[in-house]
Formats: sequence, C-alpha cells, structure tokens
Amino acid sequence: MGRQNLAGELVPGAALQWTPAMSIGSETIDHDHRVIIEMINDLATSNDLARIEDSVRDIAAYLIAHFAREEELQRAWRYPGYEKHRWDHLQMTRRIKAINRIHVTRSARYQPGDVAVVVHGLVADCIVRHVLTADLPMEELFRNS
Ligand SMILES: [Fe+2]
Ligand SMILES: [Fe+2]
Repeated sequence: MGRQNLAGELVPGAALQWTPAMSIGSETIDHDHRVIIEMINDLATSNDLARIEDSVRDIAAYLIAHFAREEELQRAWRYPGYEKHRWDHLQMTRRIKAINRIHVTRSARYQPGDVAVVVHGLVADCIVRHVLTADLPMEELFRNS
C-alpha cells in the first residue's frame, strides 16, 4: 500500500500521510489531524466487519471532540467563517455516521477487505476535503500570533 500526500489524488485504500503543508499553525489542531489520519489509515487495513464498524465509530467520536476544539478556537478568535465551518462539521459528522450505517453494518455479504477499502475511501475523501478546503484557511489566525 503506497503512501501519498493528502493534497494528491485519493486512491482507494492508499494510506494518507500528513505533511507540513497541511499545518494550520496550531499544535493542538495539527496533532488532531495527524491522529485522525492515522485512525483512517488503520481502517484501510481492517479485515473484520466488527472492527471496521468500531473504527468508524471511534473516528466519528474523535472527530466530534476535534470539531469542538476547532470551534472553540474559532469563537475565541472571532473567526469570520465560524458559522459555515460549524455547519460543515455537522454535515461531516452526519455523513460519517451514515457511512457506518449504510456501508458497514449492511455489508455482511461482502468481503471485509473490500468494505474496508470502500469505507476508507469515503471517510478519507470526506475528511481530506474538509482539512484542505476549510481547515487550512484557519492558518491566518495563527500566522501572526
Ligand atoms: Fe479539522
Ligand atoms: Fe474543521
């Protein structure tokens, strides 16, 4: 399984790699993003439906805590994109929970390895898009602080 840059083309099942180009300049948020990427990568190698389901549930739980940390920072900095960003977080939480319900819990007749690749791709796509398009602009908050 090849490594790849988050900014590159997403390949189903390919491991993601955090790079300094993704840094928003906050140790807390950058650390969270690294953890999330590692959690997603673990998901790609799961070969058991119950484990995949647990992984997606763990990712969703970690994301909810991460989103709260980001939103708290944004409120503290009076970030102009706060409302839109909060809405994106809400949608992403719903989407990841739906991925678990639809793609994992109803996949008993498929090979767990195949389910892992599909679910990994969906979750990675959802999160990577958000980090690169919505989180990265937050860098301006920390640049001169
Ligand atoms: Fe984030
Ligand atoms: Fe975010």
